[in-house]
Amino acid sequence: MRLKDFQFLAEEFSAFLFARQPKGEPDSLYAPVRYINTLGGKHIRPILLLMAYNLWKDDLDKAMPAALAVEYFHNFSLMHDDIMDAAPLRRGNPSVHKVYGENSAILSGDAMLIQCFGLLLESGKEMGSAAHLCEVMCQAALEICEGQQLDMDFEKMDSPNESQYLEMIRKKTACLLGTSMHLGAILAGAEERDAHLLYTFGEKLGLGFQIQDDILDVFGDAILTGKQQGGDILQGKKNFLYVAAYAQLSGKARDAFVETYAMAGKQKDTEPVYTVYGELAIEKYASEVHRAYIREAVECLEEMVEVDTTQIRGLTHLLASRKH
Ligand code: IPE
Ligand code: IPE
Ligand code: MG
Ligand code: MG
Ligand code: MG
Repeated sequence: MRLKDFQFLAEEFSAFLFARQPKGEPDSLYAPVRYINTLGGKHIRPILLLMAYNLWKDDLDKAMPAALAVEYFHNFSLMHDDIMDAAPLRRGNPSVHKVYGENSAILSGDAMLIQCFGLLLESGKEMGSAAHLCEVMCQAALEICEGQQLDMDFEKMDSPNESQYLEMIRKKTACLLGTSMHLGAILAGAEERDAHLLYTFGEKLGLGFQIQDDILDVFGDAILTGKQQGGDILQGKKNFLYVAAYAQLSGKARDAFVETYAMAGKQKDTEPVYTVYGELAIEKYASEVHRAYIREAVECLEEMVEVDTTQIRGLTHLLASRKH
């Protein structure tokens, strides 16, 4: 069996997504769905699901609806996330709520969440694992909501610590990467031990992925990320950089940083926060923690000796150096 590479899976998945663009009445419900699908994105979650499936099975067509399901879940969460984060840009274009209004972004997001489960049933019915797939997705969906709620609760707190932050991102982000791997493994009929290892790999990758997302939010190039630079600072998000800076400071300097961070949002001036981050070399520290999670993710793959994980490792390294 020849394992499919990233490029091949990306192209196949993209073709499937476009072939399945939803149509229906009223069109105003489906137009925002087609819009966010058309904006692209990296399609990491569906590709992870397909790579996990491909460790054992070759007939990728059977897993395509499940791959689309995790992308639909992701896009649903982004539509709602951009409202919650007051984010004007997504994938280099106006966010869905900026184009269609908040109410439409909420309802079309809901429609995507519902379609996610319909698509899982489609893959699962054929393979006899529909109930199991939906059960796993249900649990993940709730965990992701918990993570998003913690993310918003942290906006009102001065001092979430690193372990609280990690628990928040484990739920809001890492869970869906882990679940994508898990669903691919279930569909392929993998042994429980392997399905579990793949979940853990995805979770570690996801922790690194969100820390990197936080780094890119602050230090990335907005042209490449397609998001507003410093959006997290403006919104008062307690992202990894904030949490790390808070932990390194103490006394008056810490109080001043908390004040500076709050003022940055109010005055729409992020510069003073960058000054503190520069003094503390926060970007370097965050990159080290990011790399440590990538290493832990790869270690999970090393435990899987009976299958060829080369493609998944390749994707991991590609993601680790991403600029968007
Ligand atoms: C963005 O995810 C949201 C996070 C969980 C960090 P991606 O970086 O995968 O976004 P797209 O789909 O490629 O645009
Ligand atoms: C998003 O985290 C996590 C989910 C959508 C569940 P962020 O809020 O950091 O994602 P971006 O930066 O807007 O893509
Ligand atoms: Mg956001
Ligand atoms: Mg958010
Ligand atoms: Mg972000």
